[in-house]
Parts: sequence; C-alpha cells; structure tokens
Amino acid sequence: MSDTRREFIAAIDQGTTSSRCIVFDRDGRIVSVGQKEHEQILPEPGWVEHDAAEIWANVQEVVAEALDRAGITREDVRALGITNQRETTLLWDRATGEPVHNAIVWQDTRTDALCRELGRNVGQDRFRRETGLPLASYFAGPKIRWLLDNVEGLRERAEAGEILFGTMDSWVIWNLTGGPDGGVHVTDVTNASRTLLMNLRTLDWDPRICESLGVPTAVLPEIRSSAEVYGEARGALAGVPVASALGDQQAALFGQTCFSPGEAKSTYGTGTFLLLNTGSEAVNSYNGLLTTVGYRIGDQDPVYALEGSIAVTGSLVQWMRDQMGLINSAAEIETLASSVEDNGGAYFVPAFSGLFAPYWRSDARGVIAGLTRYVTKAHIARAVLEATAWQTREIVDAMEKDSRVELTALKVDGGMTSNNLLMQCISDVLDAPVVRPMVAETTCLGAAYAAGLAVGFWPDTDALRANWRRAAEWTPRMEADVREREYRNWLKAVERTMGWLE
Ligand code: G3P
Repeated sequence: MSDTRREFIAAIDQGTTSSRCIVFDRDGRIVSVGQKEHEQILPEPGWVEHDAAEIWANVQEVVAEALDRAGITREDVRALGITNQRETTLLWDRATGEPVHNAIVWQDTRTDALCRELGRNVGQDRFRRETGLPLASYFAGPKIRWLLDNVEGLRERAEAGEILFGTMDSWVIWNLTGGPDGGVHVTDVTNASRTLLMNLRTLDWDPRICESLGVPTAVLPEIRSSAEVYGEARGALAGVPVASALGDQQAALFGQTCFSPGEAKSTYGTGTFLLLNTGSEAVNSYNGLLTTVGYRIGDQDPVYALEGSIAVTGSLVQWMRDQMGLINSAAEIETLASSVEDNGGAYFVPAFSGLFAPYWRSDARGVIAGLTRYVTKAHIARAVLEATAWQTREIVDAMEKDSRVELTALKVDGGMTSNNLLMQCISDVLDAPVVRPMVAETTCLGAAYAAGLAVGFWPDTDALRANWRRAAEWTPRMEADVREREYRNWLKAVERTMGWLE
C-alpha cells in the first residue's frame, strides 16, 4: 500500500507580478512556497508587456524551489494544478516554441481604439450577448487581433497553422507537457471565457465572433474543463499529471469553497476581483458586471459567476513605492496611512488602465481630487487604501442590483488582506463583515483543489469545504452619515476621470 501521508498537490500560480509554486497537504495546508517576480515592460503610456520566455524560466525555477523547500521529489506529487493571470495574450511558433512578441498584459489599453471601432461596426450588444463580456481592451480577443495586424507576416503564418495562441495557462501547460515536442495545446473554460471569443452557452469558440474580431480559429487551443488530466509533465516533474487549470480569480472562488449559488469572494492582488457564484445560470448583468464561467469539474455542468473587476488596487501601492518613492515597502502604506485620522479631503481614483467595472471606460485616466495645502503624503496613503474600499463598494452595489441579493458578509483573500486598516475600511464602506480564511493563498489552493479532485486525492467538494477555517473578521464601525458623504465625494472624483482625454 502506498504511504498516503507523503502525498501532496502542487499548484503553479502564474500571476501578473510573479510566478509561484505552492505545495499543499491533504488538509489544504501550505507546506512550502517558491516565488519569483518578473519584469513589467512598459514601452508606452498604457502599454504593459511580459517576456513569456522569462516567465517560463521562472515557473521552472519556482517549482524546483517549492519541492526543495518541502523536502519532496516529483514522486510525492500526486497532481499539478495551474492558475494564472487571465486575459494576458501570447502568440508563439508551434515548431520552435518561440514567442512572436512579448505577451500583452490584461492591463494594457493599446486596443482601445480598435474596440471602439468594433463597437461601431459590430455592436457592443452582440459581444455581451454571446460572450458575457463588454467589448473592452481588457480581454484577449482584441489583443490577438492587434498582434496579427502589427507583427509582420504573422497573419499568414497564423492562417497556415504555424502559430498558437494562449493565455498563460496554455503557455505553461504546453511547455510543461513537452513544448514543440508534443506539448498539449489546451485552455480551460474559465480562461476561455475571458477571451471575448467563447460562446458562454455552448462553451466553445464562437466562429462568427472570431470572424468579427479577425481571429483565425487555427490559432486557438482546445477548451477543456477546469479539473481533468490534460497530460503528463515532462522535465523536473516528469510523470506528474497536469490536472487543473483555472483563471486566478475563478481559482480563488474555488479555493474559498464558494460552491453554492449566492457565495462570493473578493481577491485583493494587483487588481481586485469580486466573484459571485450564480450556479448553473449565466446571469446577464445590467449594471456593468461580467458574466463568466466560475469553474467546470470534469464533465459536470458548468458553474457560472458574476464578476466585478477592478484594474488597479495593489498595483497602486506598488506605484506609490516604485514610481513615487513615497514608501519603501508595500507594508509601509498601512503605517503611513494610520498616522492620520482621515484622508484630509483627498480622493485618489487610480484609473491607470481606464476604469473597469462598472464603467468600462478605457479612456478614463487617474486623478487625485480635493487637494489643499493641508494634504500630506499620509493623507494620500489613506486615499490610496480608501480607493480600494470604494471601488469594492461600487462593485457590491452593482452586484446587489443584478442579483437582488444583499451581501451579508464578504470572504476576502490575496496579498492586500494583511493590511488591517484596509480590511477595516472595506467593512466600514460596505457596512458588512469582512472575513479572511486561514489560507489566504486561495488562488493556488483553488488550483490544487481542482487538480486533487481530478485525480481522486480529495473525494468531493464537501471534503474541501471542511478545510475552510476563519482566521480574521472585521466588522463595520463607520457612522452611516459619514459613509454616505464620503461615498458621494468618491463618486464625484470618479466623474473627473472621464471625458477630458484628447
Ligand atoms: O483578470 C486579471 C487577473 O486575472 C489578474 O490577477 O492576481 O495576477 O493581479 P492578478
């Protein structure tokens, strides 16, 4: 009989700022972590790129690091799960495995004009109806089109079947399973639901939408479920089944065990993404949210979600550190913001990638409103944290209107949840409790859970629910009149981000 105590699940999270590998045990506890940041390439205002070869090298490094730290070998790993920054778009050469261009990152706004043109010619409604998404520069489809239009000779090569498209899940899985030497070219249904190319009801590529966007179907990967064995890894993890893939936000929904309709989570990372499980129903949004696939386990029915996406939250803190030099570390923002009682009248709307939900305005740009000479860098630090809280409030308002369900508590996770002041502030502006589980790394955990289910490491979702344990809770303390006055001020600041850019 095999010694089941020495079996683990590993998960790779290929994120926006770093790649990580986490090893989990059967109780869903973290055994070890490997992590490495990669370069953010900013060639022009609004453009963001990643070097996919650097990312693949980092992924291999962090896997080796995590296994080494856990003191285990590939024989101890029952399955490997993948989760990833969504929408980030890569095209590469099928024969050589060479990327044809840097990956275009989800935050990149270069396809703004293209989206407006498509909106005029094809119509916004058509995209929303079929894909659940508004036509916006955020998604992968317009980025593929941009690459085909701008890299010389690429369209002909793509039509001839020489080029493969993938979001980072596809890139990592293809390389893990052999690359040019037999790698499997797949994506999962959650990642596919972020391309603007997948029909939300058939869960297959929509040929007419692909045609409208000018994307040849020859480049597209096969769409598979989120939890099944896609193939076996080669190299350092040789023989380990690659058994799950989920976009990082859907993985967090899974890791938070939001398996029933009405359960929601919000992940505070580079951006913030609030997802509400809507069960087997793909609920249309009339309030600026996205309809997306939450997950699909093997051949079971898909589970849908409503999503509120905020482009800039944690990355605003990074900007304060790296571009402004106002803090030395991300953690310092809390100390600085706590040194004052309030925002001193300042409001910071970080529309660096335009505004995502509920506005979907790629032309919006960031503003700091309400400045007087009284305002110090500590007030700005406070306004930075409040920006995340107010953006969450706008999403929750939209979600309550779409779902007609009032939020009773919000499950949170992600790096920013270690900031107590921010968590308190979110509870205050929502007027609802905010709860954080023991394992705040829910993105990797979700991918591990899905991979573990696919290979029978965990029997069912009830076993996963049993692992969820509350670590912290914040309850509202703000006076109702203060909350409403501050919200009105925030909304006035938001108005100032739009409509002035030439
Ligand atoms: O949709 C973008 C999202 O998947 C990025 O997540 O955590 O890498 O900022 P994160």
